[in-house]
Amino acid sequence: TLRAVLAGTGSALPRTRVSNAELAERVDTSDEWIVERTGIRFRHVAEPDETTATLGAAAAREALAAAGLEPSDIGLIILATATPDNTFPASATKVQALLGAPDCIAFDVAAVCSGFLYALSVADSMLRTGAAKHALVIGSETFSRILDWEDRATCVLFGDGAGAVVLSAEDVADDRGILATRLHAEGQYCDMLYVDGGPSTTGTVGHVRMQGREVFRHAVTNLAAVLGEVLADVGLSASDVDWVVPHQANKRIIDATAKKLGLPAERVVLTVDQHANTSAASVPLALDLAVRDGRIRRGDLVVLEAMGGGFTWGAAILRI
Ligand code: ACO
Repeated sequence: TLRAVLAGTGSALPRTRVSNAELAERVDTSDEWIVERTGIRFRHVAEPDETTATLGAAAAREALAAAGLEPSDIGLIILATATPDNTFPASATKVQALLGAPDCIAFDVAAVCSGFLYALSVADSMLRTGAAKHALVIGSETFSRILDWEDRATCVLFGDGAGAVVLSAEDVADDRGILATRLHAEGQYCDMLYVDGGPSTTGTVGHVRMQGREVFRHAVTNLAAVLGEVLADVGLSASDVDWVVPHQANKRIIDATAKKLGLPAERVVLTVDQHANTSAASVPLALDLAVRDGRIRRGDLVVLEAMGGGFTWGAAILRI
């Protein structure tokens, strides 16, 4: 069977790390409030020379090294982001240039926090239909540039960073590779979590706006449902799962979702305390961490899930 197999992972974080206490010097908040409501303790914030493309390229270089591949081996680059370097060209092409990768397919995907799941699913389809042999799938964000630093209800929640994976099309005899993906969108909720600017409306970049409680409520319901869907697609149950790598928005959302599915907390990868919500970068960042520290190993059954603005949400199940 021709499948998209995980060949390597990588990640990159901005140099500067900001604690809750440091944020409390800028807005009326406290370490206690942030930790209790979200589980977040630190976030990385990009300096002017660190952009979505440079962070994405750094993560991609790590993933290529882990896969033992060169930029010239890559036939497809998909970059998920809501914070591109420029309105156009796609940041994927900037990453291509930074890597020195020759002619290949390169484009961005916009599904905010679910962006990596969308990008992974598109790459999976394209690899299985022969569009490329090796793909780079990147989630990279600089949300710090679109935060309203006066709005304590949103600015404490997000951070910057990038994660990347290399997927390779392989004719496998076993059950390795991406086994199923599911994607969803319900545009009637597009005003629950959005940016109040854009090239076609205000002509400005805009800031993140969110109805936190509504997002929270939908997140738990949708994420538990979509995890159930991918498990059912492959005829497996929660007890077969070795690791869950969830989108890192909020520890309470992650805990509530795992509980709903009967997944023990020890099998959930948690990075939200260190990185906050890095939107499309959060899943590949967390995946890379758990691969590098030896938790996720060859043979493990891993599920990825995310939910974000749109609303959009999705999940993937893969054997490493
Ligand atoms: N510090 C101190 N107080 C704050 C802060 C802050 N940073 N932010 C809000 N408050 C205050 C509010 O002003 C409010 O005060 P009031 O009662 O005097 O008006 C009080 O805290 C409660 O505010 P709520 O917004 O009702 O607090 P809630 O318990 O819902 O927690 C939170 C807010 C953490 C945002 C929660 O709703 C949440 O996590 N929602 C999910 C949002 C999310 O994760 N979005 C990420 C993108 S989507 C995704 O990735 C899934």
